[in-house]
Amino acid sequence: MKIEPVSFLKGEVILPGDKSVSHRSAILASMADGTTRIDNFSASADCASTLECLRGLGVSIERDGSHVKVNGVGKTGFVRPDAPLDCGNSGTTMRLLSGVLAGQQFDSILTGDDSLRNRPMRRVITPLARMGAVIDAADGTAPLFIRGRNPLRSATIVPEVASAQIKSAILLAGLNSDGITSVIESTPTRDHTERMLRWLGTDVSEEVFETYKKVSVSGDSDLSARDIVVPSDISAAVFFMVAASCLPGSEVWMKGVGVNGSRRAIIEVLRGFGADIEISDERDVCNEPVADIRVKGGLRHGTASSDRVEGDLIAGIIDEIPALAVFGTQLDSGLVVRDAAELRVKESDRIKTVVENLRRMGADVEEFDDGFAVRRSQLKGAKIYPAGDHRIAMAFAVAGLFAEGPTQIEEAECCEVSFPGFFDVLGGVSRPSTGN
Ligand code: S3P
Repeated sequence: MKIEPVSFLKGEVILPGDKSVSHRSAILASMADGTTRIDNFSASADCASTLECLRGLGVSIERDGSHVKVNGVGKTGFVRPDAPLDCGNSGTTMRLLSGVLAGQQFDSILTGDDSLRNRPMRRVITPLARMGAVIDAADGTAPLFIRGRNPLRSATIVPEVASAQIKSAILLAGLNSDGITSVIESTPTRDHTERMLRWLGTDVSEEVFETYKKVSVSGDSDLSARDIVVPSDISAAVFFMVAASCLPGSEVWMKGVGVNGSRRAIIEVLRGFGADIEISDERDVCNEPVADIRVKGGLRHGTASSDRVEGDLIAGIIDEIPALAVFGTQLDSGLVVRDAAELRVKESDRIKTVVENLRRMGADVEEFDDGFAVRRSQLKGAKIYPAGDHRIAMAFAVAGLFAEGPTQIEEAECCEVSFPGFFDVLGGVSRPSTGN
């Protein structure tokens, strides 16, 4: 895919439904009693993988574009799949379903593509094994051979990394445990699972202590079907926030974007570095905060007290860091990201793929074990190799908009993993460069 420099962006951006919320809507609706209609379900390949896995577990699901109807089977009504369940590229599918399958009375196998089969799974295997499931996985990677058990033993678990996927896997397993299952989090992670469980009538208790939070579910709770509207995806919105901010004269708006407190930190980070982002009409939709977002081009004087992004903040912006790195090349202060070693085990080693591709575009960038430092740079069009990683491809398509000369994104189709039609949407709001 060839990206030409543009003058500015103008218009409304229609985003896909939030990927994290869509996965959960399909999984929790399947575990519920009754029929759930889901609206604005993500068009991503990742969420399609979740639907296929659930079908493989005997759930009847009808889909018409972004409308999905799930006929719930209840917490233990799944049937033994007659083939391995293919999670594709989706870590969320694999980790959340491992929590569901740990509590079923049958064996199952979860697998995925080359990238997913290289990602760490011990982080979910260890807690689920403590609850009584037997999960075999060579070197702690997929395929996962899961021997479920019902009920599982309830437990209180401190995950080894701050991860909403691990937390969710444990809570989903906890719904099929013999008591109260709790997760202790010292770094907060996205809370869509907890919010959606409550939306479906399940009690989720939350105790907040000075240095940690304890989230608990009870094994005797049931889920009741209830229609769900998925917010638009803030992690997809970020590409347009960065592009519009870096191109003076731009103005883009996006409606109904999820602005959940555990996901919206990227807005504050970009604002801190001078981005002009306005949030309006904040409201709750199906227990998720959503709002309309307007971004105006040109970086004003920001409020950030330093050029560093690090610490607890990282977990809340983990998916947005590739786009943030591109943004950093346009800042007088440059940008330093630390404490982000988790990026090395995402769909690609995102520290490596960000640094390599920024260098291809002529940026001045330094790599650390747990992050990178990027200095203000005039980017030059280049050939970009995203290593099959959707967020890298989209971040560098944005970089191409303000580079000198054309940029070629290889394997551009990997964007389908989270945002089918991304290039058309970007093209639709781009105003061509006059060449002056
Ligand atoms: C997700 C959680 C994050 C994120 C991923 C989606 C989720 O992963 O990077 O894209 O839906 O729970 P971790 O929980 O592993 O940090």
